Amino acid sequence: MKVIGFAGKGGTGKTTLGALFLKSLLDSDRKEILVIDSDPNECLPGVLRVKDYLRLSDMVKKYQGKTMNPEQFSDDFATMLVMNEQEGFDILVMGRGESEGCYCIINHLLRSSFERNILTGGYSYDYILMDCEAGIEHISRKTSTSIDDLVIVTDASRMGLETIKRIKDVSAEVGSDVKNFYVVGNKVQSEEVSGEIEKAANELGMKYLGSIPYDPLIEEFNFKNKNLLKIPKESKAYREAKKMLEKILGC
Ligand SMILES: Nc1ncnc2c1ncn2[C@@H]1O[C@H](COP(=O)(O)OP(=O)(O)OP(=O)(O)O)[C@@H](O)[C@H]1O
Ligand SMILES: [Mg+2]
Repeated sequence: MKVIGFAGKGGTGKTTLGALFLKSLLDSDRKEILVIDSDPNECLPGVLRVKDYLRLSDMVKKYQGKTMNPEQFSDDFATMLVMNEQEGFDILVMGRGESEGCYCIINHLLRSSFERNILTGGYSYDYILMDCEAGIEHISRKTSTSIDDLVIVTDASRMGLETIKRIKDVSAEVGSDVKNFYVVGNKVQSEEVSGEIEKAANELGMKYLGSIPYDPLIEEFNFKNKNLLKIPKESKAYREAKKMLEKILGC
């Protein structure tokens, strides 16, 4: 099982890259894929045009005021995955808690259910793609547990580059289990910026996967609410993303 997460400053292209990686896996006929939207401001279902799905947060509401039975919860979790099944992949959407405390419970439940059902249970996914929220919160809260490969996306902004360093620092502080840190430049127009991102990645001991140019097709698909999985294979962004995934998978 390969668990790939996407992190970085807000708006840099985490969700977009996650969707392009998913398309690449589907196009190469990879089996058993789970995508997780762990951003409370969920966007992945929209980008993939997934409708009528259940959220982990909706499930948690059922248990409010009652004693949580872990076995029952685990069963419900498995049922939710079955109900959310899509063509070629499963999707797990964390959703948003009603209060800060509730959100913590969701994080905790996600982690335990994930470990119980997915990492050690009956589910045997080959690939898990996890779209994380912007910034460093998920790293410090350790919601991103079990991520082997963390892809940090940056755009051509100073804040984007600084966020890479903060993610690395916080990961070290909390002792995260991430095995490989990767850096991707997105919406990068110049060689100079791409070179600077590469330099920053190398200085932090991270692998630079390359940069994706600004792609008008991505803009069009977003604006017209089209399923990003349907983007033509000739798309510049898709072609680059595919190469990046191949580097991560070592093929
Ligand atoms: N290479 C690209 N070319 C053109 N537009 C892009 C590209 N990558 C992303 N975008 C656009 O940039 C915007 C932000 O992308 P996206 O939602 O993937 O970022 P994000 O990091 O997931 O944001 P958030 O932090 O809000 O979750 C979207 O409108 C998306 O369509
Ligand atoms: Mg996003």
